[in-house]
Amino acid sequence: MKEPKRYLVTSALPYANGPQHFGHLAGAYIPADIYVRYLRMMGEDVLFICGSDEHGAAITIQAKKEGITPQTIIDKYHPLNKECFRKIGISFDIYHRTSEKLHHETSSTYFKTLYDKGVFVEKESEQLFDEKFQQFLADRYIKGTCPKCGNEEAYGDQCEKCGSDLSPTDLINPVSTLSGETPILKKTKHWYLPMDKYEGVIREWIDKAQASEKWKKHVLGQCLSWLDQGLHARSMTRDLDWGVKVPLEDADGKVLYVWLDAPIGYISATKALIPDNWETYWKDEDTKLVHFIGKDNIVFHCIIFPILLMAHGDYILPVNVPANQFMNLEGNKMSTSRNYAVWLYEYLEEFPGQEDVLRYALTTNMPENKDSDFSWKDFQARNNNELVGIFGNLVNRVVVLTHKYFGGTIPEIPVEAEKAVLEHAEEVYEAMQAFPHELDAYIHRYEFRNALNEVINLARAGNKFLTDTEPWKLFKVDPDKTAKVLSISLELIARLAVYCSPFLPFTSERLKKMLLLDEPAEKAILAGSFRVQAGYQIGEKGLLFNKMDDAVIQPQIDRLESIQQALQAAKAGATSKEESASDSPTYEPLKPEITFDDFSKLDIRTGTITAAAKMKKANKLLQLTVDLGFEERTVVSGIAEHYAPEDIIGQQVLLLANLAPRKLRGVESQGMILMASGDQSLHFVAPVDKIDNGKVIS
Ligand code: 2FM
Ligand code: ZN
Repeated sequence: MKEPKRYLVTSALPYANGPQHFGHLAGAYIPADIYVRYLRMMGEDVLFICGSDEHGAAITIQAKKEGITPQTIIDKYHPLNKECFRKIGISFDIYHRTSEKLHHETSSTYFKTLYDKGVFVEKESEQLFDEKFQQFLADRYIKGTCPKCGNEEAYGDQCEKCGSDLSPTDLINPVSTLSGETPILKKTKHWYLPMDKYEGVIREWIDKAQASEKWKKHVLGQCLSWLDQGLHARSMTRDLDWGVKVPLEDADGKVLYVWLDAPIGYISATKALIPDNWETYWKDEDTKLVHFIGKDNIVFHCIIFPILLMAHGDYILPVNVPANQFMNLEGNKMSTSRNYAVWLYEYLEEFPGQEDVLRYALTTNMPENKDSDFSWKDFQARNNNELVGIFGNLVNRVVVLTHKYFGGTIPEIPVEAEKAVLEHAEEVYEAMQAFPHELDAYIHRYEFRNALNEVINLARAGNKFLTDTEPWKLFKVDPDKTAKVLSISLELIARLAVYCSPFLPFTSERLKKMLLLDEPAEKAILAGSFRVQAGYQIGEKGLLFNKMDDAVIQPQIDRLESIQQALQAAKAGATSKEESASDSPTYEPLKPEITFDDFSKLDIRTGTITAAAKMKKANKLLQLTVDLGFEERTVVSGIAEHYAPEDIIGQQVLLLANLAPRKLRGVESQGMILMASGDQSLHFVAPVDKIDNGKVIS
């Protein structure tokens, strides 16, 4: 496209059913934030849109698992994720929610417009149905074997292993994820998007898009492979009670398919942000729309949503979808369900003031074109060798020496001394001049790793200049030349202060303060006209980054290792169980007989876990608050290796309530939660139906 007049940038709306981890950040949020911050810095008109995806099976299944309502889940995770994004400096213009009335109205009207245009095909067909739960099974409600690659964990809409587009009835040996039972077939009516009809126009659009801006190879590859396999009609409605109601008369108990409603969430968020002007951003051809997502969302943003936009007719299409691949963790796949991840909220608690270190480590390791790996050792090395050793070291030396020799103010420099130094400053000036152009080119190609590398390379050039000129020795023989060396170095770090802001916004602010850079100075830096002359004064010195030693990261490595070990042990247990399936299972011997009186001394009550937290320096323990209806108990429970605190809030349990209290790690435990133990696992024991708390088990 020709030079855009404005940019509309979106990051995938995360499901509000759990916290964000490093993989999410590196996938769709940090890259988008770098892009947006850079565009804003260059004076572009840009909107950065995101919010919580609050519908779909991901939310309802989680709610069912925890025995709470979907609303409780989203009300917990929406604010948590919003706050964590803010704290790590993701500069959304709005973080909206798809549960908002405005979104329900927007997506419902969108559907109705398409319906009225005759876009959908209405069809009654036999669908999988869970008799026990009286529910039709689509998407994540159904699992089975992928007919294309044999993956036994494929979902009803997609196989995450081979990326195939599936229908529930395609699955071999389908099983309900609600009851674990084989479903029956039952008739139901739905509205389908005949994607096959759009194959040609989608191909044309993707082809044309390449002319203005090349898409990443893996993005293009995935799109073409979908198109080559042939597009199929996909139902845009579901038999569920959680979501945006289908706005038709004969559609009771039906909601919009989450992948219809979620991307429309970008539109409703823009409406919420600028009610009077949102259409300019969504309908004017001079807007450049860019979607930042992870690779598992490619088909939805490159095929399904564009079809919906085309079918409507009033909207622009994305110019690019620079999806990232996945980030692994210490060599293993990150997994929310297995709790194998580093959670952003935990990092923010455990590494206060180190937001930019994480942004730096995730950017230098971003899975831009292939899967990458995050390791704590690499994180430590990046911090110590690059942020402290190169960037921080340069800034520190220049600021300290300017204070030491000139009281923080650049003095008058005689022309002769200026000239003499300039003769040796060619290399550093060249680096300074080339830098903004190189940075710009990388940013517009979505190559954020390379862009950040340019920033560090500029700092490297500054360090080399200092090493070549040795102001710490030079001062004794020629203070004038020393002043010039430092003024050039200050010019360089002033550029770093401004240009590092898309990547390291917190550092940028600190450094601008240290150098007393005001708005006019910043503008001059961006215009390439900034000079440090006599009288230029800097502020207080201070360290930008701190060295991180092994003691800081070792607990993180240990935590991940122990999770891996537990996962492997569980897997080995499962395999050996499978192998010995025909042998009789082993049971623990029965305990000696007791009388009924003995048993009736036990006061076992129903309760609900209302709060849970890890205990400091105790890998196995969680501190829980259990609501017994008539009172609350604090209980220390050895389940930390089996359950993440955030996963068990709302879990109903049985509590041995008259067990003598005892102190564990300084906390008085007032009871014991009853658990059933598997070979490698622990399981809560609770009434089959949820009942009031405080009830006696007898
Ligand atoms: O994969 C996910 O987490 C989805 N919630 C992403 C939705 S992106 C958009 F379409 F809203
Ligand atoms: Zn597959």
